[in-house]
Amino acid sequence: MSERFHALVLAAGKGTRFKSERNKVLHPVLGKSMLRLVLDCVLKLKPEKVYVVVGYQKEEVKKEAALEKVECITQQKQMGTAHAVLAARNILKREKEKDVLIINADHPLLRPETLKPLLALHRRDRNSLTFLSVEVENPAGFGRILYSDNKIRIVEERDATPSERKIKEINAGVYLFKIKDLLRALPRISNQNKKGEYYLTDVIEILSQEKKKIGVHKSSRTQEVVGVNSRYELAKAAEVLRERKILALSDKGVTVCDPHNSWIDLDVKIGADTTIYPSVIIEGKSVIGSQCRLYPYVHIVNSRVGNRVKILSSTVIEESVIENDAQVGPFSRIRPNTIIRSGAKVGNFVEMKNTVFGKKSKAGHLSYLGDCEVEKEVNIGAGTITCNYDGKKKSKTIIEAGAFIGSGTELIAPVKIGKKAYIGAGSTITKDVAPESLAVARSKQVERRRGRRKKRKK
Ligand code: UD1
Ligand code: CA
Repeated sequence: MSERFHALVLAAGKGTRFKSERNKVLHPVLGKSMLRLVLDCVLKLKPEKVYVVVGYQKEEVKKEAALEKVECITQQKQMGTAHAVLAARNILKREKEKDVLIINADHPLLRPETLKPLLALHRRDRNSLTFLSVEVENPAGFGRILYSDNKIRIVEERDATPSERKIKEINAGVYLFKIKDLLRALPRISNQNKKGEYYLTDVIEILSQEKKKIGVHKSSRTQEVVGVNSRYELAKAAEVLRERKILALSDKGVTVCDPHNSWIDLDVKIGADTTIYPSVIIEGKSVIGSQCRLYPYVHIVNSRVGNRVKILSSTVIEESVIENDAQVGPFSRIRPNTIIRSGAKVGNFVEMKNTVFGKKSKAGHLSYLGDCEVEKEVNIGAGTITCNYDGKKKSKTIIEAGAFIGSGTELIAPVKIGKKAYIGAGSTITKDVAPESLAVARSKQVERRRGRRKKRKK
């Protein structure tokens, strides 16, 4: 027996029950694919190396598995879980004296602390094989574990008799094998079963007949150990991960007012004393600072938010940066590549895209700023629009420090508004405006006295 082991993650199947064109294990839960979650868990157990068996949509799966210490092996045709392990035969042959941990890639909830006792049991008892089992209320779809006359075997749902189907102890799809015993048993597996596949689970019966030592680690963590085969099970898995994430954030001093109504992806980081009101969604690799307040229906994707920032209700922020002490919303839309500098205020129905919005600048109402550079302490009046697109190309608007843009202004880009310049309300600005000057570009108001109307003859 060896303390050193390799890991093999089976990810070549399509996942038919998932009814998707996409390989099941690529589907994300809380911002991470099932495969990545399994790899994260396995890597924490410190195997020498992790091999991923790929097949269906292998290029996409390989991309997802592109991590240090992880290598992919192709299974040309998907002929069952034992056949998948055979794809790694040449690698395993070189490591005969070690163990291999084999895991199905559709177990996104597994945690290292749940697998450690399995490794410990395997080493303590010097087993040839140790695998994970769990007792569930509804065992449908799983392999059932049968114990008789000191022998163990697993029968798959389709091949089970009605009485075998009643068994509630199931195979969780995690196995630790002595490589040399596994390699000896694999070629003896047949595909004479209802599915016509080579089942890895048949190795158990073979080793059992050979009187090899087999251990079963029965886990009590039912929820964590069962895999995901359907979309509904994926939604259930997301629920568990969400709960875990919110618990971890709470432990770090984050207030999540309503854990059942907040969606925070696994990679999101949030600082202490930040309050998350109900119905907030934070996705991707977003980082939120400390002492922030995120009000209801805020949706943040892959963005960075500083400290003491207030994001008011129904605001969407994508791939942008909000610096310290800024305030955004309600009903603002911050599109990719925007930086809102510290102390700035962005209010109702303001949209920004590819814009730097300077320190302590304000855009309180109903404006569009696209491809724009706004320096510090600028005031953007209600209804200001940067006309950045002429149908062919995008052009830039620059507004220098301290400028005042009157309400209802159109800035036709490319255009530059100088330092402390003042734009009269309702202007359509087509030319650069010099610093400290006043520009008004609107037609003059005409006013006439209304004459008495002649009465029409009937
Ligand atoms: C498998 C077990 C079952 C167990 C269950 C636990 C077998 C025969 N059955 O059933 O006893 O209760 O897991 O979740 O192993 N794969 C390949 N190549 C293939 C076929 C599958 O790489 O040719 C991969 C899949 O991508 C998947 C994993 O193996 O990640 C398991 O396959 P799946 O079809 O989900 O097996 P189950 O029917 O769930
Ligand atoms: Ca499965």
